Amino acid sequence: MRSRSASEEQSMVVTGGPDGQAFGVDIGGTGMKGAVVDTGTGQLVTERKRILTPHPATPEAVAGVVAQLVSDAGWQGPIGATFPAVIKHGVAQSAANVDPSWVGTDADKTFTQAVGDNSEVLVLNDADAAGIAEARYGAAKGVAGVVILLTFGTGIGSALLIDGVLVPNTELGHLELDGHDAESRAAASVRDEHGMSYKKWSKRVDAYMQHVERLFTPDLFVVGGGVSKNAEKWVPLLELKTPVKPAQLLNDAGIVGAAIAAIEHLGE
Ligand code: BGC
Repeated sequence: MRSRSASEEQSMVVTGGPDGQAFGVDIGGTGMKGAVVDTGTGQLVTERKRILTPHPATPEAVAGVVAQLVSDAGWQGPIGATFPAVIKHGVAQSAANVDPSWVGTDADKTFTQAVGDNSEVLVLNDADAAGIAEARYGAAKGVAGVVILLTFGTGIGSALLIDGVLVPNTELGHLELDGHDAESRAAASVRDEHGMSYKKWSKRVDAYMQHVERLFTPDLFVVGGGVSKNAEKWVPLLELKTPVKPAQLLNDAGIVGAAIAAIEHLGE
């Protein structure tokens, strides 16, 4: 996330939406979703709209869809957007499962220019956004100490929270596991591609999470991503000392977390 200089703060014309509202956009490999969020309750105040992610998903093409989601909702004000890469001060630093042209792209600037209309966009890592949302309104609400959220999807995303405060860009999905990039062994997409049973896949997830557990000794794991909808099929098979809770915000975590980040960093 980006901190702004005094001159930038002065030149900013963005004001908060009504009653702490902000627009959240969740950018994934297949779909991009957006809605207006009441950040005081974590509830969506407009219907979630979904548009297919363009291919190739270049910065310009994705920015065009962000602008469309915002204008379809008639929104002006703070906007937060998730992105599945390391985002440092608005700039993408990695591209594990996205178009390589993202590396070095100032995503904040690209999206802000595309949206226009005196709105400003803040971009953050997708798992970090989910972590913010789960800490505020979901499975990690009120949990003190170290919480690690892991999202299992195309890749593995991570969010590290200490007393509810995020340490951004942890990228624990790329820890090495048995000589491999962990997400290439234990992401949910690997289960789908190989038609693996939950039992077989959960053994890989267990080995991965035990590794993370040894490194961080967290107070709580939260597991998210689409596969958390079927948490009862695999979470009970994990043999961890740390409690594991499925994420609660499911489809909305990214949108809600991005909106909260936008309100907190773009000002109300
Ligand atoms: C990326 C992360 C992202 C995760 C989930 C990983 O491949 O490196 O930045 O959070 O996938 O989308």
